[in-house]
Amino acid sequence: MKKPQPAVEIVGTGRYVPEKTLTNHDLEAMVETSDQWIRERTGIHERHIAAEGEGAAHMAAKAAACAMERAGVEAGEGDVLILSTATPDRLLPSTACDTQALLGADHALAFDLGAACSGWLYGLTVAESYLASGKGEVALVIASEKMSAIVDWTDRTTCVLFGDGAGAAVLRPSSDGRGILSSHHRSDGSLAELLYRPAGGAMLPMDQGVLDRGEHLVRMAGREVFRSAVRNMADAAEHALREAGITGADVDLMIPHQANVRIIEATARYAGIPMDRVYANVDRYGNMSSASIPVALDEVLEKGILEPGMHVLMVAFGAGLTWGAMTFRW
Ligand code: ACO
Repeated sequence: MKKPQPAVEIVGTGRYVPEKTLTNHDLEAMVETSDQWIRERTGIHERHIAAEGEGAAHMAAKAAACAMERAGVEAGEGDVLILSTATPDRLLPSTACDTQALLGADHALAFDLGAACSGWLYGLTVAESYLASGKGEVALVIASEKMSAIVDWTDRTTCVLFGDGAGAAVLRPSSDGRGILSSHHRSDGSLAELLYRPAGGAMLPMDQGVLDRGEHLVRMAGREVFRSAVRNMADAAEHALREAGITGADVDLMIPHQANVRIIEATARYAGIPMDRVYANVDRYGNMSSASIPVALDEVLEKGILEPGMHVLMVAFGAGLTWGAMTFRW
């Protein structure tokens, strides 16, 4: 099979996580749970929580500014700005436009992308197509999530899982064989009610009844989501690897969505990748939805783990249901 030639590469990354941490012990005082249960069932030790008045655009702009600086790109050079978020600051206009204004990226077209935890990988694929078609030279793909604003802090089955943060990457056309090799994304809207917020949109607008019943907050069928996550992330990884003309044995590093260490371990096992080639930071951040992969990638690059020519597999799963995988050569 002919190996794909990358058209687009990541030239800089950045992240921002709020200062405040919430530990498992803190949660013990809020709901009936224990540090031991959370560690054993999820691998999470603590998560970061945004300050009051600190929203998705604010966090996105900080992560994006860092990515642009590392990429040597000025805000005005951005042609397209894609922001993945499940927690927009407001419903109109998009948080991408608010982020654009904060950055001064006045030349870019900016829009939100809603694919929950899979959103950043979806965004990379959209940006890749945009640049590969010749419509632009510089893309900013950001994920920013203030999950603490939509979590039900009285529901122990969900509130222990999530955290806040943002990650970003700058993409450019590839020049030297580095870059995105393959991607595979799917969704299944028939399973939407496994992970959703029943109200607060135009169908069931916010009113006192919605607030009293907590219908504006996240609801999740955890066990079903877990099973579907493992099955579909393994399937997406298999497709993306095949399309790239490589196998799990060729993957130098897997950067999975950070939801639960047991999901990560099971996905790696199916993909044939040992855990010493998997990057996990879910212990420190919990599930930051679509921000989890770019934050992890930024840490990986900061630590100098990747060397030129290495193959990376990223794989995600989230509400929608949505899922996907992408491979790239560093
Ligand atoms: N503390 C203590 N006990 C708890 C807690 C808690 N925080 N949460 C649930 N339990 C209890 C349950 O009530 C249940 O008790 P019961 O047996 O008396 O009914 C028991 O623990 C076991 O519950 P399960 O739901 O079977 O536990 P499981 O091992 O499936 O773990 C979890 C639950 C962590 C939510 C897991 O299903 C999961 O991670 N699912 C994926 C969820 C997810 O990551 N969603 C985010 C978006 S999608 C994504 O990012 C992949």
